[in-house]
Amino acid sequence: MEAVTDVIFRHVVDKAGGPDLYFSEFTNATGWVHAGDKAIGGRLVKTADETRLVAQIWGSVPDDIAKLSTHCKKLGFIGIDINMGCPDSSAVKAGGGAGMIRTPELASEIISSAKTSGLPVSAKTRLGYSSLDEWHDWLSHLLRQDISALTIHLRTKKEMSKVPAHFELIPDIVKLRDEIAPETLIIINGDIENRDHGLEIIKNNPGVNGIMIGRGVFHNPFCFNESSPDRTNKSSIKSAELIDLLIYHLELYDKWHEKNDRPYQTLKRFYKVYVRDFDGAKELREQLMNTKSTDEVREILGRIQYN
Ligand SMILES: Cc1cc2nc3c(=O)[nH]c(=O)nc-3n(C[C@H](O)[C@H](O)[C@H](O)COP(=O)(O)O)c2cc1C
Repeated sequence: MEAVTDVIFRHVVDKAGGPDLYFSEFTNATGWVHAGDKAIGGRLVKTADETRLVAQIWGSVPDDIAKLSTHCKKLGFIGIDINMGCPDSSAVKAGGGAGMIRTPELASEIISSAKTSGLPVSAKTRLGYSSLDEWHDWLSHLLRQDISALTIHLRTKKEMSKVPAHFELIPDIVKLRDEIAPETLIIINGDIENRDHGLEIIKNNPGVNGIMIGRGVFHNPFCFNESSPDRTNKSSIKSAELIDLLIYHLELYDKWHEKNDRPYQTLKRFYKVYVRDFDGAKELREQLMNTKSTDEVREILGRIQYN
């Protein structure tokens, strides 16, 4: 997730009990080819211990996709995921993200170009551009591209995130995959809150191979936790556990923010993840939003008692 799943937050999530696979923030291939690392603002910064990390990239120029994919292999990413679902107008106008849904032949070329890196290639997309009726043709097309995995955010581009995810289509999608590309893994995304919720979907649809959680990690950073499933229920998490994670986040921020190219302001979007659900949480959040450094945050936290 853009401005969320950077090297810092991935390590925080790992400490809380991470998923089997991580995806980087989406990174534009053409920007990188023309202007190098400064164009991508630390999106592909990773540490050597991150061995379960797929690079998510996007773009509409096949040659640029090939170049960035090859670079990602050198950086140690284990796969390339092509974003074909982002509804943001800047991505769509550039012919990438959800714009790809309207140019299936170009989407095929983009996938082939990523494959020249030698890494496994997957795609993440939506059910269609403006109408739900598009899902069958669009997903059939992608499934014919011999990709390792296909992640489907169960909404159209037009629906943004304004309607509930179309879980009712999962059985038909799995059937289509079984017919066209039995080897391609299906990953379901949209409105899945935590690991238990994901496992329930898989229990009801055994053909589904994986679950992707996005915003759920904002509601509960322990949402992937496997060893103690009750902790995936956010009401069972103590405020002190969340504050401990925040302190860890601050520590990692201090360590990596320069390499990662993240100004202090970018850290503030995370405070609501950790400071909530106790008396005085709102006031504390407001105080933190007025800080200018991690030391200031630590100083404020040091004055407060939690349970
Ligand atoms: C802040 C934010 C940033 C996102 N950035 C990306 C991204 O870089 N790549 C991507 O494929 N999807 C991105 N998404 C979409 C999510 O991956 C996901 O498809 C969507 O939020 C629905 O799933 P969820 O209900 O689990 O969040 C982003 C979503 C949010 C809220």
